[in-house]
Amino acid sequence: MRKKIVAGNWKMNMTPSQAVALCDELKDLVKNDEVDVVYCVPAIDIVPVAEAVKGTNVCVGAENMYFEEKGAYTGEISAEMLVDAGVKYVIIGHSERRDYFKEDDELLNKKVKKAFYAGLTPILCCGETLEQREMGVTMDWIRLQIKSDLVGVTADQVKEMVIAYEPIWAIGTGKTATTEQAEEVCKGIRDCIAEMYDAATAEAVRIQYGGSVNAGNAAELFAQPDIDGGLVGGASLKADFGKIVCYK
Ligand code: 13P
Repeated sequence: MRKKIVAGNWKMNMTPSQAVALCDELKDLVKNDEVDVVYCVPAIDIVPVAEAVKGTNVCVGAENMYFEEKGAYTGEISAEMLVDAGVKYVIIGHSERRDYFKEDDELLNKKVKKAFYAGLTPILCCGETLEQREMGVTMDWIRLQIKSDLVGVTADQVKEMVIAYEPIWAIGTGKTATTEQAEEVCKGIRDCIAEMYDAATAEAVRIQYGGSVNAGNAAELFAQPDIDGGLVGGASLKADFGKIVCYK
């Protein structure tokens, strides 16, 4: 049985003091031993959030990292820095990073491998544009992303990681994929992992859905056999996040 995992992706929201206030507001609302709860927060919020969630069921995640250990990479943050600050998870390859910051699969593959090397759990994102969906190439595109981003990653590592399926047209639009669309692609990702590795690896890897998840649709999405939780943007910044974590 895979444990559900619900992660908030705060994106570029919350100053450090707002972040601490949000952690305090959510503290009692996100208590659920049956679900892994993660707050993926802006880099500057990591240290205060790690302090604010100490002793609770919440883990801290980062929204990005660089694959080099240290050196002259102005503005970047290493996996080692994240680990030292108490981070457990790191989002890699969010569509906003792929699109606005031109992160390609070759770079993302380096980041995934580095995250594992440093002891972080990657939350690897994939997803199609509306144009790709309408052209009927959704699964081809996602399989290409997964295969490229996991080059050289072992079965044991994949068993520990999280993959987030986020259709780009559903992000921040209020337009959620239907439960059937979300389940179809999450199952397709699991089938792809089974082909690349083996059935046991596919059974173990946790696959989230992301894109306009809210308190009203979480229960139905998370009840699907291949959806192991959600990666939540807008709704992770308010009390509603507690309802998503306690979806049952
Ligand atoms: P929304 O939940 O705001 O649509 O964002 C989804 C997302 O991009 C999470 O990573």
